[in-house]
Amino acid sequence: MTTRRPQTPRRVKPVGSGRFAVGPALRTRIVGTGSYAPPTVLTNRDLERMVDTSDAWILERTGIRERRIAGHDEAASDLAREAARHALRMADVRPKELDLILVATSTPDMVFPSTACVLQKMLGAKQAAAFDLSAACSGFLYGLAVADQFLRCGTYKKVLLVGSEIFSRIVDWQDRATCVLFGDGAGAVVLQAERGRRGLLSTHLHSDGNQGHLLYVPAGGSRIPATPKSLEEGLHFVKMKGNETFRVAVRALEAVVTETLQNHGLPPSAIDLLIPHQANFRIIRAMAERLGLPMDRVVVNLDRYGNTSAASIPMALDEAVRDGRVQAGHLILFEAFGGGLTWASALYRW
Ligand SMILES: CC(C)(COP(=O)(O)OP(=O)(O)OC[C@H]1O[C@@H](n2cnc3c(N)ncnc32)[C@H](O)[C@@H]1OP(=O)(O)O)[C@@H](O)C(=O)NCCC(=O)NCCS
Repeated sequence: MTTRRPQTPRRVKPVGSGRFAVGPALRTRIVGTGSYAPPTVLTNRDLERMVDTSDAWILERTGIRERRIAGHDEAASDLAREAARHALRMADVRPKELDLILVATSTPDMVFPSTACVLQKMLGAKQAAAFDLSAACSGFLYGLAVADQFLRCGTYKKVLLVGSEIFSRIVDWQDRATCVLFGDGAGAVVLQAERGRRGLLSTHLHSDGNQGHLLYVPAGGSRIPATPKSLEEGLHFVKMKGNETFRVAVRALEAVVTETLQNHGLPPSAIDLLIPHQANFRIIRAMAERLGLPMDRVVVNLDRYGNTSAASIPMALDEAVRDGRVQAGHLILFEAFGGGLTWASALYRW
C-alpha cells in the first residue's frame, strides 16, 4: 500500500500579471454578412383568398404584411448558397478557406445528408467540416455559440454559419393560425477569431423540453414516420399553441436579456441596437419597452418577411449592416425564442 503525502498547492500566477500578462481577448468576429429571400411575394391580401383571415387581423396581431415563398425547385440549401455567397464576398473569403460550415435549419433539404454537406458541395468548400444544427427559431444563436467555441479554442479559423428555412413546405395552408406567420429565406455570416475589444462578448442558451408540445412538427421523424395516415392527419405540419407560446416567449426573453446585461454589468441604455428574432411585432415591442429602447434602435423586418425561423436574425443583421444602421463600436443585443422550447441571446461589440 502506498500513502500519498498531501500535496502543497502550487502558487498560480494570477492571469494578466507579471511576465505572462495576457493581451486583448480572442473574440469571434463577424467579418461578412449575407442574406437571400426568394422573389415570390405572398401578401396578407393573397392569404385572404386562401383562408378565413384578413389583412387587418394579421397586421394588428403580428405586424406582418407579406412574406416570401420559395420556388418549387428550391430547397433550403439553394437559399443558403445565395446568402453564403454574399457573406463570403463581403468577408473576402474563398470557400476553400472555410474550416467549418454550420447550417441552422428546421427545414433541411432531406433527413440526411445534412443541408450543410449539400452546401459544402455547392460552394466547393473542400476543406470544411459540415453539419446541421436543430434549435428551431433559436438556431442561429445556438450556431453562433457553437462556432464561437471552435474559433476561440483555435480548432478552426474560418466558419460559415447559415440560417436557412423553407417553412412554406411545413405549414398547413388551411390552418389560418399558423400559415399567416411564416416565410422563407436565408441569412449567413462568416466568422473568424481576432484579438481585441470588438466581437462576440457572450452567448446565453436555454432550453425547456417540457414545453416542446407548444410548438412542433409531430411527424416525419422516427416517432411518427411518413405514412398515408400521418399525411392524411396533417401531422407533417407545424402545430403551435400561439397564445401560450407568446406568453412563455415574453417571459423567457425578458429573463435571458436580463441575464446577459447583468453578466456584463451593463444597463439597458448601453445597447445601441437590438436585433431580435422576428416572430411577432408585439413580442419585439414588448422587449424594447422593457429595455427602454426606442423602436429606431430595434431592427424589424418581419413586416416584409414574416417569421423565417433560424434565418430571421442573420437576415435582419445583414440588412442593418448594409444600410448602415450597424456602425463600428455599436453594442448589439441579439435574442431569439423558438421550438424546443429554446431561447437564447448574444451580446456583440461591432
Ligand atoms: C399566433 C399569434 C399571432 C396569435 O395571436 P393571438 O392574439 O394570440 O390570437 P389567438 O391565438 O388567441 O386567437 C384569437 C382569435 O383569432 C383567431 N385567429 C387565429 N388566427 C387567425 C387569422 N390568421 N386570422 C383571423 N383570425 C385568426 C383565433 O381563431 C381566435 O378566435 P376565437 O377568439 O374566436 O377563438 C400569437 O399568439 C403569436 O405570435 N404567438 C407566438 C408566436 C411565437 O413567438 N412563436 C415562437 C417563435 S417561432
